[in-house]
Amino acid sequence: MSASDSMNSSNQDKIYANSQPVQDFVFDDKVADVFTDMINRSVPGYATIISMIGTLANRYCSPGSQVFDLGCSLGGATLAIAHHLTHKDYRIVAVDNSSAMITRLNAALTSHTDRLRIQTVCSDLADVEIKNASVVVLNFTLQFIPVERRSALLRRIHDGMNPGGILILSEKIRFPDSTLNALLIEMYHQFKQVQGYSQLEISQKRSALENVLIPETIGDHKTRLVDAGFSSCDTWFQCFNFTSMIAFR
Ligand SMILES: C[S@@+](CC[C@H](N)C(=O)[O-])C[C@H]1O[C@@H](n2cnc3c(N)ncnc32)[C@H](O)[C@@H]1O
Repeated sequence: MSASDSMNSSNQDKIYANSQPVQDFVFDDKVADVFTDMINRSVPGYATIISMIGTLANRYCSPGSQVFDLGCSLGGATLAIAHHLTHKDYRIVAVDNSSAMITRLNAALTSHTDRLRIQTVCSDLADVEIKNASVVVLNFTLQFIPVERRSALLRRIHDGMNPGGILILSEKIRFPDSTLNALLIEMYHQFKQVQGYSQLEISQKRSALENVLIPETIGDHKTRLVDAGFSSCDTWFQCFNFTSMIAFR
């Protein structure tokens, strides 16, 4: 890739625009530079989900408690929550193991009025202590955690939450019925085309994510959430093969 290709002053996602040997997807500087554009054009309903996370957090974040945004990337959910919370007695812990993401989030937060209430942590989720949590957000993050580590993470989140708290879990999903699964993937690819991605971009990105983003069914998620101790859970948003769920501690 030439220097001019890697410079992207418009911050438009063109990462897979040229034919290339496709490597596993990583959240590096190149991705972080275009991430806002990428996620808005790649997740149907992303803006709605982010805004509603703010609305839900305002209902469930009790004074004196903590909010955890796990896999925060550039802080989309963190900033929506800070914006929506009507009381100021909270702390948001925004965690990501990508230094490219956390560096940019820190820069964006420098002049934020709620800066002192937002702690950013560059770390693996597995190493972050969850405690006194009224709201925990996993917005399209669990799908990147190896499947065998997901149950332990959800149990730890549950155990660190206050009674009455909520977990918001957004994921790309697959469907047990192969015909429906194929249809909703096709619809999703049509959505991406409408967003301006070419067939080449769609297919190269799909290959890059194949070993990295492992989607499960809604049933798998519900079973795991109940096994982790959550008293009830269900979906509150779905578009094609993307969903957001709420689980009650
Ligand atoms: C799809 S992005 C999440 C988007 C973000 N939550 C939002 O709402 O805009 C997934 C994020 O999870 C982070 N991530 C993946 N595995 C992680 C881990 N084990 N520990 C911490 N962060 C992780 C990635 O670096 C990436 O920024």
